[in-house]
Amino acid sequence: MKRRTTMSRGSTMLALVAAGSLVLTACGGTDTAGPGDGASGTAGGDGEDASQVQVMTWWAQGSEKAGLEALVEVFKEQHPDTEFVNAALAGGGGSQAKQKLQADLQAQNPPDTFQAHAGAELQDYIDAGQIEDVSDLYDEFGLTDVFPETLMKQLTVDDKIYSIPSNVHRSNVTWVNPAVLEEVGIDPATPPADLDAWMADMKKVADAGKIPLSLGMDWTQTQLLENILLSELGAEAYDGLWDGTTDWGGKEVNSALTKFGQIVEWSNKDRDGLDWEPALQLVMEGSAAYNVMGDWAVAAYDAQDMAAGEDFLYWPVPGTDGVFNYLADSFTLPVGAPHPGGTKAWLETISSAEGQLAFNTVKGSIPARTDIDAAKFPEYQQSAMKDFSSDTIVGSLAHGAAAPIAVSTAVNQAVVKFSQGASDVDTLQQELVAATKSLSE
Ligand code: GAL
Repeated sequence: MKRRTTMSRGSTMLALVAAGSLVLTACGGTDTAGPGDGASGTAGGDGEDASQVQVMTWWAQGSEKAGLEALVEVFKEQHPDTEFVNAALAGGGGSQAKQKLQADLQAQNPPDTFQAHAGAELQDYIDAGQIEDVSDLYDEFGLTDVFPETLMKQLTVDDKIYSIPSNVHRSNVTWVNPAVLEEVGIDPATPPADLDAWMADMKKVADAGKIPLSLGMDWTQTQLLENILLSELGAEAYDGLWDGTTDWGGKEVNSALTKFGQIVEWSNKDRDGLDWEPALQLVMEGSAAYNVMGDWAVAAYDAQDMAAGEDFLYWPVPGTDGVFNYLADSFTLPVGAPHPGGTKAWLETISSAEGQLAFNTVKGSIPARTDIDAAKFPEYQQSAMKDFSSDTIVGSLAHGAAAPIAVSTAVNQAVVKFSQGASDVDTLQQELVAATKSLSE
């Protein structure tokens, strides 16, 4: 079988842009007042408590936990006097952690730092006055020029920078079991050119009695939907979904939702109980042919010693070649963090070249820093680094880049209702129009 593991096939769909040329509008350039001039000050002053750092993430199990552990190893070397306190809460995509975090922040009981997605999600915390300006740390750690300018825009409001990115992930990846395709007479070496061609292949898989595409709980369904919309509408109109210039109530969206409905119908029925890793497992073990998941999936394959090009293939979601649907994890200094010296130590490690190399090698992501040699990374990350520097960049809804948490939560609810059979395509569309209304106001 021909090895087929690179992502980009040189799409000319839109003018290609330089590294991280995000098309999104969230965060950067708004008038929102930030909390950074509050009494609690910025990190880095003398005498700040650095005895420990309580770190809240959702990297609590499986391959994600392994990524966090690799980072903690570097942290222990760099900051041996600061105790790392793991406040990770299981649930992919932050399905549990974000709720707990919200409650803690509202009760003014923040952790020392928490994982937040660059873009609209970070804006939520800024608007609520829950996180500090960490601009001074960029100077202190020498970070001003190491991240792509357009990613920085996603972290900045009124010239204040509110978090430090650890990594960049890609959401529009299809994970493929080549043996299942061969079994049903599909050539795995040639990815389908668009969604319709892909669905024709899915039908062959379904007719052969296998699951065409495995699917998990709410946010994984939203992530599938965002990529179907991206495939069907193209990057520019997809971006318009987040600023009111593309009509959620229009014919194109209706047609994409109809296709989404068919794919959901073909999928496994135990979706709602499955996090991303068990859903992907259905592809790994050969019960299903495809899964659409962010590239943290490659870490799950690594953990099972499965080899790209042999045991699995990866493609951009058909119809999205040349587009990188991005999300970035970043870390914050919450207002009132109990150990701001510890937070500062953590932010130093996660932004260091050593920390980003150790973490992203295991996590499946690429470094947010642009000054780390790609040759140091495994094959998948090398291909993603190449694509991130040349593809058109759009932002993920399911992972906080494209729209505030309230919007993605409302979309999740409408999507789950639909996948459970409690609404039809037209009702889903009306509910999505309502869920996204605030974006055009
Ligand atoms: C995303 C996060 C990734 C990964 C994924 C699955 O929201 O940014 O780093 O953790 O969820 O849990």
